[in-house]
Amino acid sequence: MLIMFNALLLLLGLGAFQAVSAEKARYNELYRPQYHFTPLKNWMNDPTGLLYHKGIYHLFYQYNPGGTTWGAMSWGHATSRDLTHWKQQPIALLARGYPDNITEMFFTGSAVADVDNTSGFGHSGQTPLVAMYTSYYPYAQNLPSGKTVQANQQAQSIAYSLDDGMTWTTYDAANPVILDPPAPYSDQFLNFRDPAIFWHKPTKKWIAVLSLAQLHKLLIYTSKDLKNWALASEFGPVNAVGGVWECPNIFPLSVDGHNDNVKWVAMIGLNPGGPPGTVGSGTQYVVGNFNGTSFTADADGLFSGTTPPPSDSIIFADFEGVGTFADLGWTPTGDLIGQSPATGAWPGQNPVTGYLGKRLVNTFVNGDATTGTLTSKFFNISMRYINFLVGGGHDFNNTAVHLKVDGQIVRSATGTNSETLSWQSWDVSSLLNRTAVIEIVDTSTGGWGHINVDEISFSNSMARSQVANWVDWGPDFYAAQAYRGLSSDEQVAIGWMNNWEYGGLIPTIPWRSAMSLPRRVSLKTINGKATLVQVPTENWGSIVSRKALKRSWSSVKETKSLGSVGKALQIELSFSDREPAAVGSSQFGIIVRATPDLKQQTRVGYDFATKELFIDRSISGNVSFDGTFPDTYYAPLAANAKGQIKLRIYVDWSSVEVFGGQGETTMTTQIFPSDRATFAEIFSTGVSTQNVQVEIRKISSTWDD
Ligand code: FRU
Repeated sequence: MLIMFNALLLLLGLGAFQAVSAEKARYNELYRPQYHFTPLKNWMNDPTGLLYHKGIYHLFYQYNPGGTTWGAMSWGHATSRDLTHWKQQPIALLARGYPDNITEMFFTGSAVADVDNTSGFGHSGQTPLVAMYTSYYPYAQNLPSGKTVQANQQAQSIAYSLDDGMTWTTYDAANPVILDPPAPYSDQFLNFRDPAIFWHKPTKKWIAVLSLAQLHKLLIYTSKDLKNWALASEFGPVNAVGGVWECPNIFPLSVDGHNDNVKWVAMIGLNPGGPPGTVGSGTQYVVGNFNGTSFTADADGLFSGTTPPPSDSIIFADFEGVGTFADLGWTPTGDLIGQSPATGAWPGQNPVTGYLGKRLVNTFVNGDATTGTLTSKFFNISMRYINFLVGGGHDFNNTAVHLKVDGQIVRSATGTNSETLSWQSWDVSSLLNRTAVIEIVDTSTGGWGHINVDEISFSNSMARSQVANWVDWGPDFYAAQAYRGLSSDEQVAIGWMNNWEYGGLIPTIPWRSAMSLPRRVSLKTINGKATLVQVPTENWGSIVSRKALKRSWSSVKETKSLGSVGKALQIELSFSDREPAAVGSSQFGIIVRATPDLKQQTRVGYDFATKELFIDRSISGNVSFDGTFPDTYYAPLAANAKGQIKLRIYVDWSSVEVFGGQGETTMTTQIFPSDRATFAEIFSTGVSTQNVQVEIRKISSTWDD
């Protein structure tokens, strides 16, 4: 009764308020981003069409009009004049048959302005906008075009708008315009998606880049009219190949601003298989060339081979000895009793790569049906990290490596649904001198029901796999796309600021998921290599307060309180690099979104020993909705020529985005702190940190006007 009464009051109240300031009133819930785009309500994932047209930035996005988890995929729509203030628009493409009998969903794609009316969709001089997207068909059906699709098929379709993007008509006469993947891959019709289209001036053709998700391949198609497409080439697999490849994008950029040296960048989403130390989704980039038909990677942009463990490593288990697991000191159970390390792949398994030496643990013994566990001998934790190579299934309950202390699981890791092993590390500094065992578990019999493990070792440094260039090193930047329609050589990208690992569980109501800040991207030569550099777009200025809290110290030891600074902030922090302390941790940084008692806090800092930027969100607020969420993330970042480290940190009501150096290292993380978490503090461990400068500015809500 009371609830009903309250609900009624709320309804009446909202009605009245709406007239005054509808958007602001609704954009002040706990965790509601104040300057990152979110839909008013419901679920959002990928940006699915970023188009600048007639002075308006369009943002189309994957949207579920019916709830706060993935489903009924439609194209939501928002517009902006400055990439900062957004206006919600009506749904652009609503799942066909929504809500009761959905026959087609509109998955990720992109949109262009067909200025020469190559498609013929335009009339009376009106420029048609054309979107290409993946049609997902839940059922087998015969389509109006006469084409037939199978259940769960993904095929590529187009739609057009004759009113500058406000309403859209699907091209039912011929959709899908690319029905099946090409012959050698025709069995991949369930995993063929996410067309990124653009105009290639030199060849006067439209290009569509698509992904064959499971095969880690991009397919490049060309067209004269956006309707008839011909396969031109394929690219991949290269570099990071965890999980699936999705949401590809390729675009040109001049190197160091020289118009005579243009390179192309391929951005590719991976899920799972993101940056080292993260779990779930991530985005890599490859620098290369595109000639109108094929993309080729620069030789110095390809990574191969497995990085050895850090030089101070003590090898605990390399599985090189001849004999059974029991002979090597491991206690097997189930089907692993009597078994031995593998020398690569077992019969019927795809090639296994990335292990060191000749042998590894590979539980695909009799296929995925094999189950069992392997438990190590007890050992004493004596160094800061436990490093190991892991591949295979991505299932924390059933295909995992666990660290157990007193019989309790205290750390876990999995593969990324990939046969390539890569380094993972557990920071065990808080467990020094404890007795532990490592348990390798395979209790899964389905797809990816196996695990690959090798080279378990102890070290004071984290082991790293150099398998890719990462667009962003944090866990919450995915499915990034660059704007179409900007002047040549100008690129602005936006990513989905969430992760498939826990995206459906984040504690936000009544919306779920935000977009990253729009980032201007460029290529700069850093350490002899063309490197992607990202900075927030300039229009930013308009919502960042001119007044700043400025503090500087020639030397900082321990902590400096900055008081209550707020929840939406731009922070510029610089300090001198230093030699790491001989013992103990040697870090410097800033604590943000802290409660007065520091029980909730997010640490953004730099580790002088490993030369890494980090964000620690392990006690950042509500972290309990997913076991993998509370964690620390690391990214390489070198000091500049003057020996300084520079960080630009963007804090919002539920995120922290860091741009390190010139923007060559970025890290994006979601956080869910309480409303009282407005405090900030500088911290320094080990010897003192020199030449510290901090400037903090408040950022106002973009929903205020
Ligand atoms: C990536 C993705 C795309 C797909 C879309 C569906 O996040 O899985 O590959 O088109 O989401 O919503």
